[in-house]
Amino acid sequence: MNAATSRPVTAVVFSPTGGTLRAARMVGGLLGDVRVADAADTRTPLAFGPDDLVVAAAPVYAGQLPAVEGLFENLRGDNTPCVVVAAYGNRHYDDALAQLKARLERRGFWCAGAAACVTPHVFAPQLGAGRPDDADRAALEQFCARVLQKLASGGAPASVPGNPDPAPKQPVPVPKKRDGSLCRVCNLCAQACPVRAIVPGAIRVNPERCISCTRCAQVCPTHAIRFDTREIAARLTARCSQPRPVETFV
Ligand SMILES: Cc1cc2nc3c(=O)[nH]c(=O)nc-3n(C[C@H](O)[C@H](O)[C@H](O)COP(=O)(O)O)c2cc1C
Repeated sequence: MNAATSRPVTAVVFSPTGGTLRAARMVGGLLGDVRVADAADTRTPLAFGPDDLVVAAAPVYAGQLPAVEGLFENLRGDNTPCVVVAAYGNRHYDDALAQLKARLERRGFWCAGAAACVTPHVFAPQLGAGRPDDADRAALEQFCARVLQKLASGGAPASVPGNPDPAPKQPVPVPKKRDGSLCRVCNLCAQACPVRAIVPGAIRVNPERCISCTRCAQVCPTHAIRFDTREIAARLTARCSQPRPVETFV
């Protein structure tokens, strides 16, 4: 077990279905006493100083950060060290880690370390099932020890692979099935949607806003919303079944 820091550690997380949150809590917990904040809550500004430590974590969507307006823009650092974490479903993280690092740097942070962690793929949950697991934890423990060493004795910001400013990709539409006869109009889906794409009072989804995160389907108590992921799951399973290790950069 590595010696945790006495700095306050805040994990600022976007995690529609919980995988990123598990990875962020693991990394944050290995660094110190961690509290969790919402990276998409633009109404709650979060300011940090040089003695804080921030873990910024996001899922990978189409190899990039999710196209969510204002994501991480509630943060302001003051030469604050951060650890960036990209959670992905065992295909690849492509540009997401570089994008996350650049986004934090623009907001006053410096990147002490970066980790790409495999988590269950929301469209093919057998990819990354049970991850992060004990082997991931062991790798992340070593990573966090190196980050803490850098914070104690100094060092250059971490370099990470990928394009920090990629051209936005058109999201691949995932077929959704909505069954109005099952809907009890409880509005849980509208309340839980991280991008406010669902009109309360009916299961009407604004396709311009929807990021296909599947949170609505996860919270629906009657399964009135389903994503038809069979095709995409078959494609991913055929190509990406070999488990990928945690990758870290210090
Ligand atoms: C729209 C969308 C696109 C995704 N694209 C990728 C990808 O490019 N590479 C990958 O490995 N996983 C991809 N995933 C899987 C997610 O990164 C993974 O399931 C992650 O754990 C979701 O985070 P969450 O559980 O915090 O919501 C994608 C998921 C969604 C919903």
